Amino acid sequence: MKVLVLGGDGFCGWPCAVNLADAGHDVVIVDNLSRRKIDIDLGVESLTPIATIHDRLRAWEETGGRPIHFVALDIAQDYDLLLGLLRSERPSAVVHFAEQRAAPYSMKSSATKRYTVDNNVNGTHNLLCAIVESGLDIHIVHLGTMGVYGYGSHRGATIPEGYLTVEVPQPDGSRFQEKILHPTDPGSVYHMTKTLDQLLFFYYNKNDSIRVTDLHQGIVWGTNTDLTDRDPRLVNRFDYDGDYGTVLNRFLMQAAIGYPLTVHGTGGQTRAFIHIRDSVKCVELAIDNPPAAGEKVRIYNQMTESHKVKDLAEKVAAVTGAKLNHLPNPRKEAIENDLIVDNRCLIELGLKPTTLDDGLLGEVVDVARRWADRCDRSRIPCVSTWTHSQAVALQPVI
Ligand SMILES: NC(=O)c1ccc[n+]([C@@H]2O[C@H](COP(=O)([O-])OP(=O)(O)OC[C@H]3O[C@@H](n4cnc5c(N)ncnc54)[C@H](O)[C@@H]3O)[C@@H](O)[C@H]2O)c1
Repeated sequence: MKVLVLGGDGFCGWPCAVNLADAGHDVVIVDNLSRRKIDIDLGVESLTPIATIHDRLRAWEETGGRPIHFVALDIAQDYDLLLGLLRSERPSAVVHFAEQRAAPYSMKSSATKRYTVDNNVNGTHNLLCAIVESGLDIHIVHLGTMGVYGYGSHRGATIPEGYLTVEVPQPDGSRFQEKILHPTDPGSVYHMTKTLDQLLFFYYNKNDSIRVTDLHQGIVWGTNTDLTDRDPRLVNRFDYDGDYGTVLNRFLMQAAIGYPLTVHGTGGQTRAFIHIRDSVKCVELAIDNPPAAGEKVRIYNQMTESHKVKDLAEKVAAVTGAKLNHLPNPRKEAIENDLIVDNRCLIELGLKPTTLDDGLLGEVVDVARRWADRCDRSRIPCVSTWTHSQAVALQPVI
């Protein structure tokens, strides 16, 4: 099957692209390399030394990988090129990772808020428009986020896979049932763009019968897969800085370099997690099991476990002996929240969840220790705040 991987140079996209190629698909990576440019703008680097996309692809072929082509293209800006690419490649599926994905970066300034909205919403809309204009039957597999459901209280309710069945009371006292998109409750501009993506998919699926699988992914942890471990030039990126680093990888990296674990607020925030190997597998399962023609948007909760931030920190401390440091929370969010999630769809399709107890925490610590001398400790604190008044409460710990 021909598959375009939009954003295939990124943290989730790169291991996914090589996995799909390894599974026998003809893969084309489409990426404008904006993530690498943001690193330069922020003055940070992946903890792991990532090769250029061209060296990655050369190494992939030299190690026996099925060739992957690369097209440099901005899906949010280069509409005609995107349409031309769809027409020439005629893919059966497009995996869409190509968005600005850091909540703290999206909250940094008016410029980064506007960039995140322009890039993410325009990119998704361009893809949908181009598929309609091409007249091709292309299945979109999109990486969304568990954050669309919100991290407020769900009052102990299990979060369903995208749709909620509600009862609508009528003036005459009768009631009827309706299945609606689960209400959204974005906690940042980045999360807001993902909720807007959902509406775009809903509309184009209804109007043009575009087939979509929207993967509401939890926070991804881990670094490499067996395939990216094949050669040092295939190594995946490892973000640890305050804008792009995600909580569990940050804790593991902090433990590796003897930096107290940065727990924000009470640490009572509950989040959903998934290991990078499972993330890659889920995308493959989604591609292999497309929605039927005319089927409404499929939504899967792509996560394997939920944890409170403080429990994660304690788990990492128990494994590594790290100390905890409670810091003011730069985000505007509930002090504590519950997150009980239905994730049966991907498990029924064959996902075998990797969990924190599977011994892979140590693997991430080993990766971080190996590259510890590349860490700029001054970039660890989270300095992007959700509101101006929170900025004063943040004192960088160097
Ligand atoms: N990393 C996580 O923990 C996580 C969790 C949930 C959801 N997701 C979602 O998965 C997707 C990928 O995340 P990631 O961690 O790999 O992010 P990433 O920033 O590492 O990768 C995104 C890639 O998309 C490219 N890109 C961005 N805008 C583009 C555009 N307009 N045109 C072409 N390419 C563009 C970037 O250059 C980058 O290579 C995102 O949509 C993100 O929201 C990630």
